[in-house]
Amino acid sequence: MTSNSFKEKTYNKFCHLSIISNIYICNKMCVHVYLCMCVSLLESITAVLGHSVTFRCSSKHSTPAERCYIQRVKNNKEEEFISGFYRGQPIPVSPEYRNRTKVNVTELSMEMRNISVSDEGLYKCFVFINNKAEISEILLKVTAEYSVPTITKDCNKPGDGGAGKSCQLSCSAVGGYPQSTVRWTGLNQSLTNVIYSRSSADNKSKTWTINQTIVHNCNQPTNISCAVGGSVSHTITICKCVVSSQYILKAVVHPTIILHLLLIFIQTCMRNLPNTCYSAAITMNMF
Ligand SMILES: *[C@@H]1O[C@H](CO)[C@@H](O)[C@H](O)[C@H]1NC(C)=O
Ligand SMILES: *[C@@H]1O[C@H](CO)[C@@H](O)[C@H](O)[C@H]1NC(C)=O
Ligand SMILES: *[C@@H]1O[C@H](CO)[C@@H](O)[C@H](O)[C@H]1NC(C)=O
Ligand SMILES: *[C@@H]1O[C@H](CO)[C@@H](O)[C@H](O)[C@H]1NC(C)=O
Ligand SMILES: *[C@@H]1O[C@H](CO)[C@@H](O)[C@H](O)[C@H]1NC(C)=O
Ligand SMILES: *[C@@H]1O[C@H](CO)[C@@H](O)[C@H](O)[C@H]1NC(C)=O
Ligand SMILES: *[C@@H]1O[C@H](CO)[C@@H](O)[C@H](O)[C@H]1NC(C)=O
Repeated sequence: MTSNSFKEKTYNKFCHLSIISNIYICNKMCVHVYLCMCVSLLESITAVLGHSVTFRCSSKHSTPAERCYIQRVKNNKEEEFISGFYRGQPIPVSPEYRNRTKVNVTELSMEMRNISVSDEGLYKCFVFINNKAEISEILLKVTAEYSVPTITKDCNKPGDGGAGKSCQLSCSAVGGYPQSTVRWTGLNQSLTNVIYSRSSADNKSKTWTINQTIVHNCNQPTNISCAVGGSVSHTITICKCVVSSQYILKAVVHPTIILHLLLIFIQTCMRNLPNTCYSAAITMNMF
């Protein structure tokens, strides 16, 4: 007489010992038949949100497996059956996974489609060959690319020290995973202050929205961009034409040098950014 009890004991992270059957001798003495199961080292796989991923169960043997199934480890403890087969026949798949998993008997693999962030976590694969079990652990990581960051500038803010202007810059991106931060390219850190930083996860999709606003004190025209995860914004130019208020004051006090200053401005600006700087020159002409 045998019972189908399948009790597992975890001896350490990589060794399981299971009772596969109890043999009753003369209906009195019970002999537990233990099965030694080795857990192979943790393998890590990555899936892109909304795409598919294939879990491959490892087996040292080339003979076909009698039984194979995959379980999800939940909250570090409970295991939830997903899908598998027994003697070539599929074992009924749990409803949550029915429409998006497919087991390949010859490959000892399972494809899972339409991956979401909540699929991230630890999975265990059990392969039985000649009554010997092999367990492999697979860690699934999910990634999602952030949208191309939106970069905005508002360069009409009065700057520190009264010498120049400053620009308020914002960078935001949505729909990414895991959480990330904003990285600015082209900015001089010592002239920059972060004034607002916010990350929020969508309740349903669990993807992140990242938003940061900084203030940059202008000292020279600068080309900047921002990046969130692997997504990079387009490049914008800030502090295009830094007109120092000191120069304007001097021009007012000494009208003789207005023409000279204007020429310098127009020459400098023709080289760099004519449109913006012409307007600065015209403003000066009115003094
Ligand atoms: C699976 O798909 C069938 C048919 O497309 C549908 O009726 C069923 O509701 C789906 N089950 C789940 C759990 O999504
Ligand atoms: C299982 O995988 C093998 C090898 O990749 C492939 O040839 C076979 O068609 C697959 N079977 C199913 C049912 O997808
Ligand atoms: C993919 O999964 C999401 C939820 O995680 C669901 O809203 C969407 O309809 C699914 N798409 C397909 C093609 O099954
Ligand atoms: C950054 O700004 C500071 C203060 O204006 C300046 O001393 C320094 O040279 C700048 N660094 C670079 C790389 O431009
Ligand atoms: C998201 O979840 C938080 C906390 O559970 C809740 O306060 C908030 O109202 C939810 N937002 C939406 C859009 O459901
Ligand atoms: C990012 O933050 C700025 C400053 O608070 C705000 O104006 C902007 O609307 C935010 N953008 C997004 C996408 O939340
Ligand atoms: C900014 O980019 C423009 C266009 O690519 C280029 O002409 C200009 O020289 C750059 N300016 C600086 C300060 O790097």
